[in-house]
Amino acid sequence: MSAAKISVAKKAIDHIKKKLTKDMILGIGTGSTVNFFIEQLEEYKSYFKGAVSSSEASSKLLREKNIEVFSLNDVNEVAFYIDGADEVSSENCLIKGGGGAHTREKIVAAAANEFICIVDKSKLVEVLGSFPLPIEVIPESRSMISRKISSMGGRPIYRMGFITDQGNQIIDVHDMTINDPTALEILLNNIPGVVDNGIFAFNKPETVLISE
Ligand code: A5P
Repeated sequence: MSAAKISVAKKAIDHIKKKLTKDMILGIGTGSTVNFFIEQLEEYKSYFKGAVSSSEASSKLLREKNIEVFSLNDVNEVAFYIDGADEVSSENCLIKGGGGAHTREKIVAAAANEFICIVDKSKLVEVLGSFPLPIEVIPESRSMISRKISSMGGRPIYRMGFITDQGNQIIDVHDMTINDPTALEILLNNIPGVVDNGIFAFNKPETVLISE
């Protein structure tokens, strides 16, 4: 599994390396595949200005590699956003948030000119939903949202003991076949107390790189 993640991280490096410029800011996602990407990005750190990160964990790793981390508020443009996924559908819609970082991931992805998703082929599915769908919620709204999810046919499980970088909680929704990802992404985000859900359909990757 690591070999496949290293291999697709290399594909992402190959995809961007000739396009890097001294004033360029990269968007960096979260997870084990991205960690391999950051490892390989170190070699090219003098070819771009720095990074905007989607999590405290990725920021720490970037700083360890002496890659400067900027707030999204302090940059005008993010050239590429590179991130993994938990599921990728045949239409390139995603489930993300297995690591609980999907809210900031979606923000940085939306800011980028090109969203590059890097996965091994175990993440490819016809229809999203086998992987439990993460929803970040304001803590006080958790039970109310869980009841609404149950009434929609999902099986909500509270991710006990996990706090997001924004100080919120996660509900993982099992047993939900997602036939219309865009509609469900919007519907879930309209429930009061939902910060964001892990469906990336409204703003899906322009490029999906896959390894064996
Ligand atoms: C983090 O919250 C997730 O969205 C990750 O991007 C996703 O879980 C992929 O992680 P791996 O690269 O570790 O499989």
